[in-house]
Amino acid sequence: MGFLDKLFGKSTKTDNEPAVKKDNLKIAIVQGSVRQGRNGEAVAKWTYDFATKRNDDVEYEIVDLADYNLPMLGEELTEVNQSDSETAIKAWSEKIASFDGYIFVAPEYNHAVGGALKNALDFLNPEVNNKAAAFVGYGSLGGTRAHENLRLILGELQVADVRTAVTFSLMTDFENMSEFKPADYHADNANQMLDQLISWTGGFKSLR
Ligand SMILES: Cc1cc2nc3c(=O)[nH]c(=O)nc-3n(C[C@H](O)[C@H](O)[C@H](O)COP(=O)(O)O)c2cc1C
Repeated sequence: MGFLDKLFGKSTKTDNEPAVKKDNLKIAIVQGSVRQGRNGEAVAKWTYDFATKRNDDVEYEIVDLADYNLPMLGEELTEVNQSDSETAIKAWSEKIASFDGYIFVAPEYNHAVGGALKNALDFLNPEVNNKAAAFVGYGSLGGTRAHENLRLILGELQVADVRTAVTFSLMTDFENMSEFKPADYHADNANQMLDQLISWTGGFKSLR
């Protein structure tokens, strides 16, 4: 395989087998937008369908941030919302802790990761330490600036993020910027991303 193929994402595999086969790995596909009418739902579903079809012996699950209704970190809770908020924070923390690795489906808002996902990550630390992550993004430049922003945040949380990301363009992978119609070529990147993520997820599991 040539250097350019390696750089731009031709998978080294012919049979879709992960580089390191580990049983019982659990990987969350974190749908990181809570916006009404979000594109993130379709992108998370595509990611889930793509990943599960590979038969990697990995359990994938979509974790939708919108299901948790988290408060803002540190906000003053009233008697009315205190119990619900504490329940939401506990449920989020326990759900995230139950996975070995993560695929963050992250849109780009103002050249960064969206506020809801950043806030949700701020509730975590030991839950994600020594685990691995990958990114699927979308935006005018494929969400790449959100990914780079996430890499900084995850570094602080001791999460190892793999190099290859899947980057959907709002212009060419969506019709009218809202109907998700991904180009076929993303499959190469998605395979390479999953190969890397599964290797690291398995590797870090034996470290913990
Ligand atoms: C407040 C806001 C800021 C945005 N900023 C950017 C941006 O800086 N770069 C970009 O590529 N797209 C930007 N977008 C476009 C979003 O990436 C696009 O609307 C995407 O569909 C949002 O994800 P969602 O639909 O899952 O919420 C922005 C959208 C919003 C609402």
